[in-house]
Amino acid sequence: MIQNAPQTSSPSVGQPVDRVDGLLKVTGQARYPAEFPFERMAHAVIVQSTIARGSIKTIETAAAEVAPGVLAVLTHLNAPRLHSSPPSFVVGTAPPPPLQDQHIFYHGQHIAVVVAETLEQATFAATLITVDYQEETPLLRLDDPRAQMLDNAFPDVVRGEPETALATAPIRVEEMYTTPTQHHNPLAPAATIANWDGETLTLHDSTQGVYNTRAQLAMMLDLEITQVRVLASFIGGAFGSGLRPWPHVVLAAISARQVGRPVKLVLTREQMYTTTGYRPRSVQRVALGATREGQLLATIHEGTEPVAMNDDFREGLTRATALLYSSPHLRTAYRQVRLNVAVPTWMRGPGESTGLFALESALDELAYALDIDPLELRLRNDTPVHPQNGKPWSSRKLRECFELGSQAFGWERRPRAPRSLRDGHELIGWGVSGSYYPYNRQPAEAHVRLLADGSVLIQTSATDIGPGTATILAQIASDVLGLPLARIRCELGDSNFPASPHQGGSMLAASAGSAVHETAAMLLEQALELVQEDEDSPLCGASRKMVLTGDGYIALKSDLTRRESYTAILRRHGLDMLEATGQAAPGDEAQRFGTGIFGAKFAEVRVDAELGRIRVSRVLSVIAAGRILNQKTARSQVIGGTVGGIGMALLEQTCMDETTGRIVNANFADYAIPVHADIPPLEVLFVEEPDLELNPLGVKGVGEIAIVGIAPAIANAIYHATGRRVRDLPITMNKL
Ligand code: MOS
Repeated sequence: MIQNAPQTSSPSVGQPVDRVDGLLKVTGQARYPAEFPFERMAHAVIVQSTIARGSIKTIETAAAEVAPGVLAVLTHLNAPRLHSSPPSFVVGTAPPPPLQDQHIFYHGQHIAVVVAETLEQATFAATLITVDYQEETPLLRLDDPRAQMLDNAFPDVVRGEPETALATAPIRVEEMYTTPTQHHNPLAPAATIANWDGETLTLHDSTQGVYNTRAQLAMMLDLEITQVRVLASFIGGAFGSGLRPWPHVVLAAISARQVGRPVKLVLTREQMYTTTGYRPRSVQRVALGATREGQLLATIHEGTEPVAMNDDFREGLTRATALLYSSPHLRTAYRQVRLNVAVPTWMRGPGESTGLFALESALDELAYALDIDPLELRLRNDTPVHPQNGKPWSSRKLRECFELGSQAFGWERRPRAPRSLRDGHELIGWGVSGSYYPYNRQPAEAHVRLLADGSVLIQTSATDIGPGTATILAQIASDVLGLPLARIRCELGDSNFPASPHQGGSMLAASAGSAVHETAAMLLEQALELVQEDEDSPLCGASRKMVLTGDGYIALKSDLTRRESYTAILRRHGLDMLEATGQAAPGDEAQRFGTGIFGAKFAEVRVDAELGRIRVSRVLSVIAAGRILNQKTARSQVIGGTVGGIGMALLEQTCMDETTGRIVNANFADYAIPVHADIPPLEVLFVEEPDLELNPLGVKGVGEIAIVGIAPAIANAIYHATGRRVRDLPITMNKL
């Protein structure tokens, strides 16, 4: 039940209710960005550079321009000048706009766009463009001595005297860990339809944040915010790839203006590997020093990732290390190396999923060095306060996650020695990992309308990329107003709707959820105001504190038979509806408390003793993420993230030719992602911890923590099964 809104009927929040938009999706009525029909729509196809560094000497477009159906060809020679973002890196900023000059910074950079009557004609004409490059030797390796090292992306975190403490620690572990480039691979490739009406632009776009895309497009095109509308009510996955307006979005816009028609631009799968971001590869060093009893004395975590030549994206690679476990002496450092690579971005659990692979693997190594159970080692280093600033946690149920998981997984039956569990020709291993993702929340607004027929419409600009945002928002309104979920509709993903942050950083439930909670409460207040002096109403004179809601009624707490429906109240007062726009914003809780989302991940693997073939046979995720608004959609989020984690552990890697900078496996045949056959039954448990310090719903978020810790749990299980420690993802047969 939601605080402040007691009810006479059973609450919807917390229940495993079905997605409110499930029917629309499975019947094909939900429209995705590429599916909007327009009269006279033209099609745009992008041409990309085939070198990684240098410049375009000449680009020959004459043959393409006269090819059948071609309406326009844009290159840096004739494209309109676009404004770029301020150089500082802020969440959601667009990378530099395309086609502005001859310089090439990475393989796959956009160098031309062809617009034609049909997709086939544009695709064909694009092949007729020829380019003569001035080619330079690209910088492609993190260890290239010519490359520029950036050490100022994030300040180092330091506690005590880490180097001295490490040197004098009785037990030490120090290793290097590496993770590869990985791509988001949403099922639906990114797509944009751009349509101009005079000086007003409408975009249907695969974005995780319509406000953000609107602002960036208005800036690039030198338009007022009011001249741009961005729509994205349904998105076929994104995982972070929709957090920034990528260069193809503005290409669609300028193409549409050029030809004076709506233009559709859908990236090819191959193009998705160079122009919608990716998880950057990492090289990490972790050094741990501990007492013989397993108390961490020193933790050093250094990580290096590539950064593009023309962008400053950075992520919290070593961030979790400073707060997940107590360690009196600590240093974390994040470095970046400028390379001729495409622009990276956030990918599910960005930073933490990669950084904790290193830390949680190293902790496992330390546990074996100490001959302490790896789960017990983590419990011994739990911390009752935020170890960096000493603040109390608003809530932190990490210990409870480990303990519940241990019980459910049967951890006490685990023999400690590697290679001690066997089933025929298979070696079996169990591994564990801690998990963390920051709690995020931003200001959000919602508009809620309560019609006289007792139905409700919620509008907010948030995009639902799949987790079930529409469903939880409807549940929240249902509980506050006491109206059945079936009467509540949610419209999302329109920049004309009230502001919401992007769907990212696991923040939308806390942000938009709080806004809907607040706005629905405003409607309840409005209804009570109507009957305040209404002698005909059994609720006459009642205040908010005196009532309950449920079954479409407002009732007096003191006498539930004294009740009136919203419909009756509105009819008697001659009103068609009540409506309100409300907002909710975080307070100073992040200053007063240590905050975060915590979890424990358990994995079982079976490794063929002769072939080295690895199969994940069991995964249990235990997550403490505040109040769980919907057991079904939250569980579904965690399952999806677990699948991503299995991919990260065993399959996924983007391979770049380190001579040319070309990505050689930019397709679903060569970039391996898990399929059904790779995935065992996945178990999910939540440790409920409604955190009312953080927001009125007590919610945190589950989207990102879902993936964090899965890869190290699997890596640790593989070590337990085989005695072989692999510190380089993905863990493939050949590495065993
Ligand atoms: Mo998430 S990587 O912020 O979409």
